[in-house]
Amino acid sequence: MLNKVADLKIELVEVCEAAARACAPHVGSGNKDEGDGLAVDAMRARINQVPMNGVIVIGEGAKDEAPALYDDEKVGTGKGIGVDIAVDPIEGTNLFAKDMPGSIVTLAAAPAGSMFRPGSCFYMEKQVYPKAAYGKIDPEAPVAERLQQLAKILGKTIEEIKVFVLEKPRHQQLIADIHHAGAKVRLATDGDVNGAIQAVLNMGSDALFGIGGTPEGIVTACAARAMGAEMFGRMAPQKDFEIDLCKKEGVDTKRILTRDELVTSDDCLFIATGLTSGAYVHHVKTGSDAFGLHATTDTIVLDGGIGNIRRVQTTIHI
Ligand code: FBP
Repeated sequence: MLNKVADLKIELVEVCEAAARACAPHVGSGNKDEGDGLAVDAMRARINQVPMNGVIVIGEGAKDEAPALYDDEKVGTGKGIGVDIAVDPIEGTNLFAKDMPGSIVTLAAAPAGSMFRPGSCFYMEKQVYPKAAYGKIDPEAPVAERLQQLAKILGKTIEEIKVFVLEKPRHQQLIADIHHAGAKVRLATDGDVNGAIQAVLNMGSDALFGIGGTPEGIVTACAARAMGAEMFGRMAPQKDFEIDLCKKEGVDTKRILTRDELVTSDDCLFIATGLTSGAYVHHVKTGSDAFGLHATTDTIVLDGGIGNIRRVQTTIHI
């Protein structure tokens, strides 16, 4: 009998692996929707075999009108424990289409009712810090002050602090503020889950700041909670139709939500399978042997139930 979300980890790893194998041949094709569609179809086919009563709390697609698993879509066999799922079948579709580092298949899971539902808000302002900073940063403080707090906690000088920020026009002031404070900025055109995981796992960035997708925000919250790291999120609608919808739905765009409001249970999983090269997961590799073609996927699982990091490398014939 599977009682915890963590008990489903291998099944859910296989969901991400299936999506990665399906879309990997299109890495670098210049076409992001084709790969995304294949990843979504493979994910849907495999996730519906998982023994759970799952629901997609937050899928991708609405923001970019991309292929998607839909919000409120029921997934799994319908038997077993209730599970909230957040997915991004291809996180970093541009990176995928251009074969640039940092594209992943990602999925997060937590007990039914434990993930924050952002309604029609597609963008979230995020702050992510490593475990040492949990409970010690004032999320309302100005950027320079937060960086000073972080440097002190990490025993670094402010010049040694590096913040991952998406390179977007909306972040010009943020980037200037970080530089003005004396800290460094690691820029990427896409992929803020990747940036957040770098901060959570202490792999190249000390924090992530800035506005990115809400699905990516919920997935990140699961990763942060699983690893005891810190995160804050604030709904930050950007597009006109989104701003109107959020007003109608009464979405509070001022309140900063804590990590534990974004996901209320420790029994949460974050899973990512590499599509292009990246800091913490390798891309899908293909090869052949006497039995034919095979594909090898590389996946990381952050498990809040035990607070551990598991790496899964799977080779199967295709
Ligand atoms: P996609 O996988 O949907 O292309 O998202 C990539 C991404 O860079 C995310 O990492 C980030 O959260 C979001 O887009 C930011 O959205 P936008 O590019 O619209 O500013």
